[in-house]
Amino acid sequence: MMNHMTSFRPTSPHVISPANASGVVRFPEGFLWGAATAAYQVEGAAWTDGRQDSIWDEFARVPGAVLHGDDGAVACDQYHRYREDVALMRRLNLDTYRFSTSWSRVHPAGGPVNPAGLAYYDRLVDELLANDILPWLTLYHWDLPQALEEQGGWANRDTAYRFADYAVTMHEALGDRVGVWTTLNEPWCSAFLGYTGGQHAPGRQSRSDGLAAAHHLMLGHGLAVQALRERAPEANLGITLNFEVEDPVDPENPADVDAARRLDGQFNRMFADPIIKGAYAPDVLEDVAGLGLEDHVHDGDLEIISTPIDSLGVNYYHGNLVGSEPARAERGGEAPTDRATSSPFPNDEGVYVHPRDLPVTDMEWEIQPEGLTRLLLRLQKDYTGPAGIKLCVTENGCAYDDVPDESGYVDDQNRLDFYDGHLRAIKEAIDLGADVNGYFAWSLLDNYEWAWGYGKRFGIVRVDYETQERTVKASGRWYADVARDGLVPA
Ligand code: NOJ
Repeated sequence: MMNHMTSFRPTSPHVISPANASGVVRFPEGFLWGAATAAYQVEGAAWTDGRQDSIWDEFARVPGAVLHGDDGAVACDQYHRYREDVALMRRLNLDTYRFSTSWSRVHPAGGPVNPAGLAYYDRLVDELLANDILPWLTLYHWDLPQALEEQGGWANRDTAYRFADYAVTMHEALGDRVGVWTTLNEPWCSAFLGYTGGQHAPGRQSRSDGLAAAHHLMLGHGLAVQALRERAPEANLGITLNFEVEDPVDPENPADVDAARRLDGQFNRMFADPIIKGAYAPDVLEDVAGLGLEDHVHDGDLEIISTPIDSLGVNYYHGNLVGSEPARAERGGEAPTDRATSSPFPNDEGVYVHPRDLPVTDMEWEIQPEGLTRLLLRLQKDYTGPAGIKLCVTENGCAYDDVPDESGYVDDQNRLDFYDGHLRAIKEAIDLGADVNGYFAWSLLDNYEWAWGYGKRFGIVRVDYETQERTVKASGRWYADVARDGLVPA
């Protein structure tokens, strides 16, 4: 779908091209080019037209929970500026926009439908379609209605059923126009940053609640897929997971290899196994033994959770070099960055991430595009290939503190290089057999970066939060050409 033909030629004298690119890389015909956002991160209008608190509104009020006490009350004000933003998407030649709907706008307090809130998504979807942009709808991007949290949140099994009801509401309203449905975004974060580490809403710190939440999120996913499939057999249904590539510091050292296995279990297999293979991996169950996960797994749950899907969304930001403390102590060397504090797993105290000699983004995340090639090939081989599921990179991007020059131009060469490298890595995976059919830059706009507030800028479009002015960055101009031509230029 290369239907938009706008070009963002830079105003001279700027040259927009990757620093180290080599050779043109052409993507398959029909590959989807998109950009992504999430409701709480961009919508604002937090209490407009009947919306009530989500867990993020409440969490942002907790002193010290979010940097500078930032909240999503206004964010990018997309609720009021969606027309302008859709026009921007069109100028960027996007085929598709990945956005999420706010549960607490649609069912404030988790209760009856709020027609005024629901109507916003009607308007947004119509605007996208009028501009020939495919709506890629995510039902849950971390913003549980606070009222449901007060009834136990995701640690309560009932929330899974409420989620399926909400999916049905959305489908009844938009099913005639929306054909791509993602149930959850990154349930690892919802469960383990939200209920175990406490860095995200609702800020609980309990390993057993985190595991209960993980299971119930997956149950909610399965129930929603069943409900949607029944109503729309042809729809493209899926889930988006966050993956990390975990490499042992010393592949010959069994303690390092086991540390990497543990993180791989927690991040990658904890969710992909039940959802795609219908079972928790035995080693993962062993790692969490004694925390009560099995108590939440009722007969039939895993069949529901593994209801067939069409797409697996892959969010990839970085990999890790993983070591074990005993092995490090033997080797000597610098003190580790401990992963145990936010780990949902017990006995992770000895697991650490070893810094490599790689450049990092403003999130301190290492830039490792080749990890994405390996990840996509592994998913294809172990998960999606055998199950006949398509892969789509639903998020990839980087935070940099770019600033406009006197003429307003935002020269984010580092971001452009990041995209160039990762797109080349994806194409390599495609050439080697991974069935990847789309890519979403994270993010369309600078936005509310959760516990980091507005301090981290991920957009290919800059947002001035004082004026709400949008400025397409150099990376956005470059990406517009990529999306128009279906290729990464030399
Ligand atoms: C993944 C999340 O889905 C998104 O909300 C977040 O902003 C990005 N990662 C960057 O941290």
